[in-house]
Amino acid sequence: MSDSTAPRYAEVYRRSVESPEAFWAEQAQWIDWRQPWRQVLDASRPPFAPWFPGGLTNLCHNAVDRHLEHRAEQAALIYVSTETGIETRFSYAQLHREVQIMAASLQALGVEQGDRVLIYMPMIPEAVFAMLACVRIGAVHSVVFGGFASVSLAARIEDAQPKVIVSADAGSRGGKAVPYKPLLDAALQQAQHQPQHVLIVDRGLVGWSRQQPRDVSYAELRVRHAQAQVPCVWVDATHPSYILYTSGTTGKPKGVQRDTGGYAVALHMSMRLIFGGKPGETFFSTSDIGWVVGHSYIVYAPLLVGMTTILYEGTPIRPDAAVFWRIIEQYRANLLFSAPTAMRVLKRHDPALLHRHDLSSLRAIFLAGEPLDEPTGSWVAQSLGKPVIDNYWQTETGWPMLATPQAFPEVAARPGSPGVPMPGYKVCLRNETDGAAVAVGEKGVLAVDWPLPPGCLQTVWGDDARFQHTYWSTYPNLQVYSTFDWGRQDADGYYTILGRTDDVINVAGHRLGTREIEECISAHPAVAEVAVVGVQDALKGQAAWAFVVLRPAAEALDAASQQDAIAAHVNATLGAVARPQRICLVTALPKTRSGKMLRRAIQAICEGRDPGDLSTLEDPLALQQIPDAIART
Ligand code: PRX
Repeated sequence: MSDSTAPRYAEVYRRSVESPEAFWAEQAQWIDWRQPWRQVLDASRPPFAPWFPGGLTNLCHNAVDRHLEHRAEQAALIYVSTETGIETRFSYAQLHREVQIMAASLQALGVEQGDRVLIYMPMIPEAVFAMLACVRIGAVHSVVFGGFASVSLAARIEDAQPKVIVSADAGSRGGKAVPYKPLLDAALQQAQHQPQHVLIVDRGLVGWSRQQPRDVSYAELRVRHAQAQVPCVWVDATHPSYILYTSGTTGKPKGVQRDTGGYAVALHMSMRLIFGGKPGETFFSTSDIGWVVGHSYIVYAPLLVGMTTILYEGTPIRPDAAVFWRIIEQYRANLLFSAPTAMRVLKRHDPALLHRHDLSSLRAIFLAGEPLDEPTGSWVAQSLGKPVIDNYWQTETGWPMLATPQAFPEVAARPGSPGVPMPGYKVCLRNETDGAAVAVGEKGVLAVDWPLPPGCLQTVWGDDARFQHTYWSTYPNLQVYSTFDWGRQDADGYYTILGRTDDVINVAGHRLGTREIEECISAHPAVAEVAVVGVQDALKGQAAWAFVVLRPAAEALDAASQQDAIAAHVNATLGAVARPQRICLVTALPKTRSGKMLRRAIQAICEGRDPGDLSTLEDPLALQQIPDAIART
């Protein structure tokens, strides 16, 4: 039962959008400031929206140091690796020590305030220490997902221009070591920009070649700086805390740049009101630190609130499909954050595994990153007897835009909908062409009126014009942010997400740009032309299928080896995460007479749907051969 005197969702939401400055100034009281801000919001230069300018704060202080007084011995980070069998508990005091050792090591390698540090690491505690160490000293981290390979990594190195790269000898997947250092070395051979140093955390999984004096072993610095005292550097609230690359319509990934103060304020609010997390409780997010969910809900939000966070290296089904539940039982986790694909994977295993462990500590399961289909949502809710809370957001926003917030139980979760707008988001569904608000029940582009609330992207790293152009110029007369998602709203205000408006696809909750994959495949010498589309997949939500026209010289070789070679090329350059599930060989691609690729028509055929209006199609044969090409894979 809700406390009848507690503010209701409608009231809190209205205040957040009608009096944003008063609302966010109140939320900012949950964060420690070294110096108060000059203004809550500087509204002088839309679409930019600097929150709390003039305020001095530090993310690491708020996530770690300030908890030392009351919770020094409480667990801050629990590391569970089913890959290596290692499980370690770090109290807040130990985390504080480790972060200072890492911070001193980075400083010893020349890192100063404003410098970028690229983190290319598996799910090990040192990755979290490195993130916190960066923000402690005012350096800007850029974590690159370990599943990306040399070309993806090189593009990010080139754009972020890191002074130091922190990496490891290897990650591990399914019990097999996945070497990181050779991929990093290959990326550095391709990139113009060279870091001053590469700091390697040697897990002893594989040997690695050391290039002197660039490469440094963390073990050596760790001993040297074991007792280091590294004070927090107080930075302006608008100082960037990190860059996280994400895919868009073009082949070049965008560096989503996050601030410091607004992010701390928004994440603290989200953990309290949306997730219902309390100090001393345990949060388990199964994501990866390479994605935004890992940044916000493995590292920062739980620690900002004084919770214990679980860092898990492993898959959902090893040693068996009960591993999540075993971890929850063992560490008395209160809240679980995962992705629909992980749940669909578990659904394929023995249901008895769901009941082998005591889940009495667990209050709710949050799922995000991709559409949650109703059968999966109700299967989880019914099998576990726990509420399942879908929530919708993006790398750009950093925290949920739509959800059913735990602090307001009168907003009940509804199957098929991620819920209602979260505080600060003036969500509006707009007509694709003129930007007019669409009626209830109609499909529209999900957009947010300026200003975006605190914690959302400040800009695209190094490219304000791209920020303005990409996100804010869909409707020239309106100051609105486009999510590039279609949505629909029902009469009670609940939203449904209906897919992307652009060429971004979502494979197992991983956001991938089809253009990025196309550029990679086109670079293969045997390829003349390629189109990549996202095709519905029962397990992963979507799968990438590539339609490839081979160069005349390559056509003579056998199809299977061409397909294997292209798949291996994507694996080695972009990474396994981007490898198409199918590579279909065709002799032409369907285009309009003006040369525009008809990707939607290809996608429709792949999904067994009607391809729609084909009046502009130049070569009907190109489309007709697609079913056969699919059948041959
Ligand atoms: O298309 C939407 C989909 O994932 C995109 C954002 O992906 P990413 O930047 O990786 O951030 C994930 C943060 C959780 C969105 O534009 N998406 C995310 N959550 C949902 C979703 N689609 C449907 N339902 C969701 N709950």
